[in-house]
Amino acid sequence: MPDNETTAPSLENLLHETRAFPPSTEFAAQANAQASLYEEADADRLGFWADRARELVTWKSPFTQTLDWSDAPVARWFADGTLNAAYNAVDRHVDAGLGDRVAIHFEGEPGDTRTVTYADLQREVSRAANALASLGVTKGDRVVIYLPMLVESVVAMLACAGLGAPHSVVFGGFSADALRSRIADAGAKVVITADGGYRRGAASALKPAVDEAVAPKEGEPATTVEHILVVRRTEQDVAWTEGRDVWWHDVVDAASDVHEPEWVDAEHPLFILYTSGTTGKPKGILHTTGGYLTQAAYTHRNVFDLKAESDVYWCTADIGWVTGHTYIVYGPMLNGATQVLYEGTPDTPHKGRWWELVEKYKVSLFYTAPTAIRACMKWGEDIPAGFDLSSLRLLGSVGEPINPEAWMWYRRVIGGDTAPIVDTWWQTETGAIMISPLPGVTATKPGSAQVALPGIAADVVDDEAHSVPDGGGGYLVLSEPWPSMLRGIWGDLQRFKDTYWSRFEGLYFAGDGAKKDEDGDIWLLGRVDDVMNVSGHRLSTTEIESALVSHDVVAEAAVVGAADELSGQAVVAFVILRGEHADDAATDEGSARVEKALRDHVATQIGPIAKPKKILVVPELPKTRSGKIMRRLLRDVAENRTVGDATTLADSSVMDLIAAGLSKPSASED
Ligand code: WT7
Repeated sequence: MPDNETTAPSLENLLHETRAFPPSTEFAAQANAQASLYEEADADRLGFWADRARELVTWKSPFTQTLDWSDAPVARWFADGTLNAAYNAVDRHVDAGLGDRVAIHFEGEPGDTRTVTYADLQREVSRAANALASLGVTKGDRVVIYLPMLVESVVAMLACAGLGAPHSVVFGGFSADALRSRIADAGAKVVITADGGYRRGAASALKPAVDEAVAPKEGEPATTVEHILVVRRTEQDVAWTEGRDVWWHDVVDAASDVHEPEWVDAEHPLFILYTSGTTGKPKGILHTTGGYLTQAAYTHRNVFDLKAESDVYWCTADIGWVTGHTYIVYGPMLNGATQVLYEGTPDTPHKGRWWELVEKYKVSLFYTAPTAIRACMKWGEDIPAGFDLSSLRLLGSVGEPINPEAWMWYRRVIGGDTAPIVDTWWQTETGAIMISPLPGVTATKPGSAQVALPGIAADVVDDEAHSVPDGGGGYLVLSEPWPSMLRGIWGDLQRFKDTYWSRFEGLYFAGDGAKKDEDGDIWLLGRVDDVMNVSGHRLSTTEIESALVSHDVVAEAAVVGAADELSGQAVVAFVILRGEHADDAATDEGSARVEKALRDHVATQIGPIAKPKKILVVPELPKTRSGKIMRRLLRDVAENRTVGDATTLADSSVMDLIAAGLSKPSASED
């Protein structure tokens, strides 16, 4: 059994609550997806994907070969075709006469709004592409985007795509240090940022982090960044370096609004997106153009049942994560969707803000994360009940397993007991949805992502890579290449092979534990590696441990993800302090001071999202004779459980010491 099993809900409990919800005949009759898709894909998987690629993507020159797997695990899909991602997302809709269709209903947190049609978007993306070109960006150059949720964020990504310049979006919540290492790893030429953005009712700053990230630092090579392009969003003062820093409104507004897309090969890099792995260093996940766009468009159309003429779609993710890439920018825009883009938090200025927006824009398709649903449950159903949510006809969930209670609440309170819920399993690495019910086809089950999409091959295997029978549990694997699969880790092919392809011969190992129920439906049970999932965000235990031990007072640190009612998992850190600092921390006041310092330190090193919720100062860490930290035992402590079998510990008295040290309650972060 995977080590993380202890944190996952038991299947028996899940199944106990299970009830399947068959699609209504009305929904099924009009659904984009039909059951025949499975048969079609089973009969000829590659032919199925080639058909999707021709039907959903416009090619400058057509491909003749669907998949080249001769260099496995690096796949080449539709390799001899040429195309452009921005052309597919924007220009072709204008060419088809849809220029007046609204692409984005933007809503700023302070309540400012902006309506952007596909024709507006075409002009703005063209201007931004021309402006980037004037700053020296050409095909193949990397551009880092560090922005809040603004129309400009979407425009910036598409402008890069229009130039064939891979973008690397860094979530605005990451620190200057995290930004610096991502800029350096990608060798970015330009960074696009903003003075700041609005969050929780106040203007927060972004530009200072960029300044810090590109500043000279002892022992590190000079930055590759030549220009910083800055969007004006707030009225904050910003430090300015003449010649290097450029205002968006100066260069973009002045640029020509006509831009000829750079036609690229299907395997040309579209973007790099950094994600946490099991080691300290984030991985630059590389995605290319043709296959990625094909699966983004196909899944968006079929999993969300998008009817572009009438639906209003809203995905609440941030563009700093893969969900924002595939299900705000590329998937919906390839399909010509109308969507809501919201800058701020769900509870500003009040806890009904999301539902207010659903009512205001008549949102029909809504995609969010379980952690947000659980927060809304906690706030109470009176809040959504105060708004007209009758426009909603489909709900999606992503980022972590959704507990059946949250699923049922989502269906009943938000979906009016009729909207189907699609629980979509995928990863930064998979590029697009892999496992999900098909609305209108699948009878949905609360808590289960259920079935691999047509064209996708997923399985659950045991330690020896044998497929487990129905009712069995093990590891989730993907057994056939798929169009939107990662093409590697930027600059590190070997790490790509080691991380995903070495655990099971010929199979992609996702890092998730899973079970099959008696119907063969798949239930995801959480990570089985040293990756935590906090509010649907992926964090590495090792990365946070490295951040902690880089602080002067820390001798050793161990981090675990402990079950948390709201965020799924919460970061809990166990630290051993150095000599005299341990004495300082012996008082309540001293330990509170140390905990605050360490929390702030993690925020500086990685970002506020990685801050431990609890830090426990301990005299020892439980280790095996070979020196491996037994996280399972620490999780028991963190989750207030009786500590499990500790017989393999080198020193079995350690757990008593830890327990004794914990007898006083620790201050925890709210
Ligand atoms: C990890 C990937 C996919 C976009 C957001 C996260 C977990 C994701 C589900 C789901 C259970 C899920 C997995 C996966 N995960 N969706 N529907 N049910 N678990 O992308 O940051 O790359 O994280 O998120 O553990 O491996 P990511």
